[in-house]
Parts: sequence; C-alpha cells; structure tokens
Amino acid sequence: MSSPSRPGARRRARSPIPATGPTALAVLAARLRCPNCAGSLVPADRALACARGHRFDLARQGHVALLAPRRKRAAGDAADMVVSRETFLRAGHYAPIAAAVQAAARPIAARTADAAPSVVDLGASTGYYLAALLRELRAWWGVALDASAPALRRAVRAHPRIAAIACDVWQPLPIQDAAARLVVNVFAPRNGPEIARVLSPDGALIVVTPTPRHLHQLVPVLGMLGVAPDKRARVHATLSARFEAVDHRAVAFDMTLTHQDVLALVAMGPSAHHVETAAVRRHLARLPAAIRVTASVDVETFRRRA
Ligand SMILES: C[S@@+](CC[C@H](N)C(=O)[O-])C[C@H]1O[C@@H](n2cnc3c(N)ncnc32)[C@H](O)[C@@H]1O
Ligand SMILES: [Zn+2]
Repeated sequence: MSSPSRPGARRRARSPIPATGPTALAVLAARLRCPNCAGSLVPADRALACARGHRFDLARQGHVALLAPRRKRAAGDAADMVVSRETFLRAGHYAPIAAAVQAAARPIAARTADAAPSVVDLGASTGYYLAALLRELRAWWGVALDASAPALRRAVRAHPRIAAIACDVWQPLPIQDAAARLVVNVFAPRNGPEIARVLSPDGALIVVTPTPRHLHQLVPVLGMLGVAPDKRARVHATLSARFEAVDHRAVAFDMTLTHQDVLALVAMGPSAHHVETAAVRRHLARLPAAIRVTASVDVETFRRRA
C-alpha cells in the first residue's frame, strides 16, 4: 500500500495486530491442508510446505494457491469484474448487508472458547465481508478462499488478519477437518459437504443469498439475471442433509445509485456475462441520474446437525 491516506492503510493502522498478509498465513498455516496429501502446512521461506515436501509459493501479492495437481483451474472472476466489485462495495452501497453478517456472527463469537478462532469465507472475492467480520471479531483470523487471483490480491490488503488462498471451492477445500469456527458464504458457490467437514462441531455457517426482489427495478430493464422464486428453498435443500437453519434475517433496503454505480453493479456479478455494457448505457440514458434500487437478501445461520 503506497499511500497512508488510502482506506486499507487506515484500517491497518487501527487493527490491534500489526500483521501483514504473510503473517496471517503463518498463523493459519496449521489449519490449512496440502491439496496433494491432506497434510498440515507450515510456513517456509515465502511459501507453505507440508511434511512430505509439497511446497506452495506465495504470489508476489501475498496470496497462495492450494490447488490439487492436474485439475483444470476454476474460472474465478476476471480482473475487470473485481475492479467493479471493489468500486461498488467501497462506495458503501452494501454496508447494511455487511452489518447483518456481523450481527449474525455475534452470537457465534460469544460462544467460542478458542483463543484464536478462524472464519473461512467461501468465494470471498475482495474480502469485503470477511474484513467487516474481522473488524468486529478482534481475536479472530480469516481465510479468504476464491478462484480469482485479482480478487485475492485485494483480499490480502483488505485486513491484516486475512490469509488469501486460491482454490476451487467445488474441490476438497484446503482446510483441515473441524478447523473453522465459522464459514461465511456471500453470493458465492457453496459446497455443503466440504463446509460441514471444515467446521468445528459447534461451528456455524452464515449464508447470504439474494431474494427475488433483489435489484428488481433494474433486472428486467437491463436484462440482468433474475433470482429464482424458490432460491431460498433450494439453498436449504442443498444444505439440509448436514445443516439446520437456526437464524434468519431478511435484509432489505433502498439504495440511491448513479449511472456509474449501476454500471459497476452490472459488471461485478454474473450478469456481466449476459449483458453488453453498451446496451446498459443505452437503457441508463432513459433513466434519471439517481435511481432508487432495492437490495433484498436473506442472511441465514446454519448449524451442523449432530
Ligand atoms: C458473486 S461473487 C461474490 C464475492 C463476494 N462474496 C462478495 O459478495 O463480494 C462470487 C465469487 O465466487 C468466486 N468463485 C466462483 N466460482 C468459484 C470456484 N469454483 N472456486 C472458488 N471461487 C469461485 C468468484 O471468483 C467470485 O469472487
Ligand atoms: Zn503434501
């Protein structure tokens, strides 16, 4: 971080632990898992290594790839999507969602006796929600999992207690059994069996999914991907074998978005693959400069079934 006036630098100065990305990796290494042999990892010189000699070098930007050999790499978000996501989130439009995730985590944090509990964010992207959690959970450490290297570069800088790991969340997660007290999953793919494996027996999973009303003023006008009416039921169905829902927060609020905000919002998500920017600009030209748009999500906490 070159300028002390940038937001990330301010957050670092306020943090109780003046660690860097690699230090978070050192703290969390023993809870990570070698993708080749499932052994635990220790920090080596700018790398992580297991007892069998498998070695994973840190990228220049501080994250590390823990990918099984000979696997086709998962397609994470491209660099331009990540820039759009960072721009949109930094403007604070989804701050009420981050606050709801913090609130959902509070009862879980209150019950842990672990001196350095860890939270794993599946599909963490820039680490926006993970950093929000770590600002609140002062003794916790966070693992950002994502397939996108441009996203993980940002996650490393989002909070000093974040270790950022490139992986495919549809494969065995590079996390030891029962190593996480909390798993969070915000608008991202979720792998129920693996989440259950990495959670401690008293651990919890917080899932954020959009409702059919999410961005409803924009979806039909801009041709964005809508949310299926049974989205929440489908999430429950994929998790119900291993988890029971214990808390539900319906979070809905109106945002006032500029055309630039809307362009970033479209470009940061799955609609980016379906909608042409030029078409979005044409549609926007017919809309007012400030557009009221509803955000509507379910924030649900699940516990492992006994
Ligand atoms: C819609 S974004 C949400 C990101 C973040 N949770 C947020 O809300 O800001 C989904 C994220 O999942 C990641 N992703 C998609 N498929 C993945 C996979 N198979 N393995 C790991 N990450 C994946 C993408 O790179 C992207 O960062
Ligand atoms: Zn190994």
